[in-house]
Amino acid sequence: MSKKILLSGVKPTGRPHVGNYFGAMKQFVELQSQYESYIFIADLHALTTVQNRQELEENTTGVLLDYMAIGLDPKSVTIYKQSDVPQVAELAWIFNCLTTVPYLERAHAYKDAVANKKEPNVGLFDYPMLMAADILIQDADVVPVGQDQKQHVEIARDTAEKFDRIFQKCFKLPEPLILDTVATVPGTDGRKMSKSYNNTIPLFASDEEIEKAVMGIVTDSGADVPENVYAIHALLRDRVSLDALYAENKGQYKKLKELLIEDLKAMITPMRERRQALEEDKSAVLEVLKAGGLVAHERAEKKMEEVRKAVGLKLY
Ligand code: TYM
Repeated sequence: MSKKILLSGVKPTGRPHVGNYFGAMKQFVELQSQYESYIFIADLHALTTVQNRQELEENTTGVLLDYMAIGLDPKSVTIYKQSDVPQVAELAWIFNCLTTVPYLERAHAYKDAVANKKEPNVGLFDYPMLMAADILIQDADVVPVGQDQKQHVEIARDTAEKFDRIFQKCFKLPEPLILDTVATVPGTDGRKMSKSYNNTIPLFASDEEIEKAVMGIVTDSGADVPENVYAIHALLRDRVSLDALYAENKGQYKKLKELLIEDLKAMITPMRERRQALEEDKSAVLEVLKAGGLVAHERAEKKMEEVRKAVGLKLY
């Protein structure tokens, strides 16, 4: 029996953090051989916020190095960048014509932008349609993501159903793959870890950055267990060993932070070193992206031939 298809991506908008890793990227690595996997860099999505050539190029190469450094193996996974599959923009346009404005107005990312008094660009408003195209064009069965992307995968399902109803059956219905324990990884202030809250621990942080981030974790003086320290520490140890450690060091916030620093360093250092080694030969790493782009492009083109035919765009 052929393997099911897994697809996911990360936006190249800056350095990924521990929340991205535990919420999604770690699953990319753990599941890479169990599924036929497609992991991409969402550079077209990043354009909604990154509008500087050098920054986008550096961020995109950065995510590629991150993918390889965490252990994605190009022999098992097709790694590509979204813009090497321009058919996604074509499919997103077709979806735009089937989707209503009130439906997209209910999307969280757009609602948050409006609530924060930002003037969202059309790309941000339309973000879920491009994401639906990413997923549906590759026939994905499962999409490993954090909780904040669940609605987007549901929108992709709705959109597939709508298309199939109006034209003819073309798409598979994807399922989000969200792990309960890491669905929303908390940041150093207890809120969801997010670049926009300035509460992150970068995934490839230097020792100094790890120390600074952990020492900055907000603690509620008085309790035996510093809740925010414990919540991050729970990513790195099983419950039994964690509870034993926190019982032994009850109320000693500084000591507990030092222990968290130690555990974070043990996890991050080898990945950071792998990333540094890969960075030595960027052109070899870029070849991986180029090759993956050809594979993803070819699959997408096949799907689009089917879609164009179903819609009435293909006359010859
Ligand atoms: P992005 O780049 O914002 O985030 C990458 C992944 O990290 C997860 N994540 C978290 N998980 C748990 N706790 C957190 N604090 C946390 N912060 C981030 C996100 O849920 C995500 O899985 N729209 C996507 C990129 C994308 C995509 C796709 C993903 C574009 N097209 C198609 C899957 C399929 C995004 O902006 O992710």
